[in-house]
Amino acid sequence: MPGGIQLKNPYLPYPVRIDEIITETEDKNLKSFKFVFLNPDDEKAFSSYMPGQFAELSVAGKGEIPIGIASSPTEKGFVKFTINKVGAVTSHLHNMSVGDTMGIRGPLGRWYSWEEMEGKNVVIVGGGFAFTTLRSSIVYLLHPDNRPRFKDITVVYGARTPGMLLYKDELAAWEKRDDIKMHITVDGTNDPDWKYNTGFVPAIAEKKIASADNAMAIVCGPPVMIKFTQPVLEKLGFPPERIILSLEMRMKCGIGKCGRCNIGEKYVCKDGPFFTLAELKQLPPEY
Ligand SMILES: Cc1cc2nc3c(=O)[nH]c(=O)nc-3n(C[C@H](O)[C@H](O)[C@H](O)COP(=O)(O)OP(=O)(O)OC[C@H]3O[C@@H](n4cnc5c(N)ncnc54)[C@H](O)[C@@H]3O)c2cc1C
Ligand code: FES
Repeated sequence: MPGGIQLKNPYLPYPVRIDEIITETEDKNLKSFKFVFLNPDDEKAFSSYMPGQFAELSVAGKGEIPIGIASSPTEKGFVKFTINKVGAVTSHLHNMSVGDTMGIRGPLGRWYSWEEMEGKNVVIVGGGFAFTTLRSSIVYLLHPDNRPRFKDITVVYGARTPGMLLYKDELAAWEKRDDIKMHITVDGTNDPDWKYNTGFVPAIAEKKIASADNAMAIVCGPPVMIKFTQPVLEKLGFPPERIILSLEMRMKCGIGKCGRCNIGEKYVCKDGPFFTLAELKQLPPEY
């Protein structure tokens, strides 16, 4: 082949194999998939991702869906996603088996502003399946190479019931550490052995987040959780440029070409999928 720049086709997925499937929730609707890349060069290219980014998962003959990356770049040899069974592609994925092959396109979108968070307290607020990119963030933050770069880490994470919490073994392990403050909550439970909080995420956030001083907050969850958490953070004193909020939008290309996900002049796929509250205040209220 003659010399010159060989550009990768951004629509071409990397082939991957399902290496492990973990059922996360008691209703069996949320499963984590660990994928391994079929080609080492693809793994190398993808492994530049950072917590906060997403990928398009493609199943031949079924379609392509955007899913947040749940693994951390500090975890080598695989990439992990946690998928809620809601419709055509996600249901098909839930019926796939270890050893099956499919495609991953990415990493896509921007990542949380880790450089800006250096030397600051990091507050993470999450609920539902959106906790996936927050899992990626926590694993990244707690890695021995990264932990000294950040000050206090506070996490508020909620699910409807104890059986709906993701990553239960990791939550239990993080609970025991003294370099991260975990505040796990459920909306309600009859479980007499439940030892954590009961109440909605915004109320627990208001009680447990000590201060907005020198802190940045990342909020990722269902729109209703975000709607009620935003004023709590503002009341605690977080300025709009230090509140990062995730947006849920329909997407297709994931690379700012098709116009499916735009809000005003911004593309949620390329300029997001999260924005600071200061950025959102500049956009038309279409989200
Ligand atoms: C940046 C980003 C990250 C995401 N991360 C995750 C993740 O980590 N785990 C996860 O389980 N899901 C995630 N989603 C949502 C996921 O993309 C949709 O659930 C998926 O596309 C549905 O595909 P489907 O073919 O199974 O459903 P469809 O058959 O297309 O639709 C079934 C139902 O899902 C709803 N739906 C479809 N697309 C979306 C969407 N983009 N957002 C919200 N609801 C939708 C429809 O309204 C409908 O009610 C993410 C979405 C975005 C934009
Ligand atoms: S999904 Fe195509 S522009 Fe965002």
